[in-house]
Amino acid sequence: MAPVAKIWPCVSLLGLILFWNVLFFFRLSDKPKESPRHNTTLTILIWSWPFGAVTDLTGDVCSRLYCITGCQVTTDRSLFGQADVVVFHHQELQYGRHRLPPSKAHPGQKWVWVSLESPSHTKALEGWVGNEWNWVLSYRRDADLFVPYGELVPHSLDVVDIPEKTGLVSWVVSNYHHTQARAAVYRNLSRHVRIDVFGEASKRPLCPDCLLPTIAKYKFYLAFENSIHRDYITEKLWRNAFLGGSVPIVLGPSRTNYQQFIPADSFIHVDDFKSAKELATFLTTMNESHYRSFFAWKRSHAVRLHEDWRERFCTICRQYPHLPQKKVYLDLKRWFWDG
Ligand SMILES: *[C@@H]1O[C@H](CO)[C@@H](O)[C@H](O)[C@H]1NC(C)=O
Ligand SMILES: *[C@@H]1O[C@H](CO)[C@@H](O)[C@H](O)[C@H]1NC(C)=O
Ligand SMILES: *[C@@H]1O[C@H](CO)[C@@H](O)[C@H](O)[C@H]1NC(C)=O
Repeated sequence: MAPVAKIWPCVSLLGLILFWNVLFFFRLSDKPKESPRHNTTLTILIWSWPFGAVTDLTGDVCSRLYCITGCQVTTDRSLFGQADVVVFHHQELQYGRHRLPPSKAHPGQKWVWVSLESPSHTKALEGWVGNEWNWVLSYRRDADLFVPYGELVPHSLDVVDIPEKTGLVSWVVSNYHHTQARAAVYRNLSRHVRIDVFGEASKRPLCPDCLLPTIAKYKFYLAFENSIHRDYITEKLWRNAFLGGSVPIVLGPSRTNYQQFIPADSFIHVDDFKSAKELATFLTTMNESHYRSFFAWKRSHAVRLHEDWRERFCTICRQYPHLPQKKVYLDLKRWFWDG
């Protein structure tokens, strides 16, 4: 996996050079030449870094880490006047701590609204019915800037290693609310099979390095999302289950929606069973060859997590030439809930 992961970001370099030629052409022909802010570097201003923790942005970070050239990602608000794109992360806007500037600094400036949380956990969306938002960066496939929590990338492997198993089902949960759909399914299922629960919500918290080795010991992992929304498939699947080497039992959007991201035979969907008892029987009676078949995807694919906000923001530069220049979201809440 290592060589593939290293080469992968650079493969697109040639394509990027082409994009840049196209972009440069449009920027020269499209916009007044005398404008002082235009050079071949795009400036992406992050108005407030998500959750406050700014990571290292020194040097040419997009080029250094992701082979994306001509891209300056900054949190320096003094560059607002010249920024091509200004990015606002919802969590900080929601509490009113970081108010929006009164208006865009220049007609070509684009504002991006960012949330990787589901609509159920994205509060105070009501106010956004103006023309501030040009683009959305989200886990939704129809977002202008689609940033999934993870993806499968082509990769070849001769022998699939399945970690040795000592337990049947595990679940790591940090926020447990008995009213959530996932809590009801957990309670029902736990009447029929033993489920070992770890994390903040249990009395067994896990250190970050213990997470995957612990999950690896179990045959199945409850990859239960905190709320059910289209395309909302998080690290619970990509990292905990897939990287942990445990077969995911998913609760989230429909099976069809999952299959738009991962192979049909790589996971078990709670909705496939009429009752918790039936699911429990399926888990406890599964034979070895059936179990192994859930790992078939590993022969041709590897998991790539997208967890670094720098990567998410640097890719704005890569997409920039293809984004709709005249788009505005007149009712953001409606788009996010109905879309
Ligand atoms: C382009 O603009 C960025 C920021 O606005 C600046 O840091 C960079 O030095 C400029 N590059 C050139 C070649 O003028
Ligand atoms: C849990 O089980 C009860 C009865 O055993 C059933 O009525 C209920 O629908 C189940 N809930 C879920 C979420 O599976
Ligand atoms: C294992 O289970 C699968 C699915 O139920 C079945 O098709 C297959 O014949 C079983 N294999 C053996 C060796 O029992």
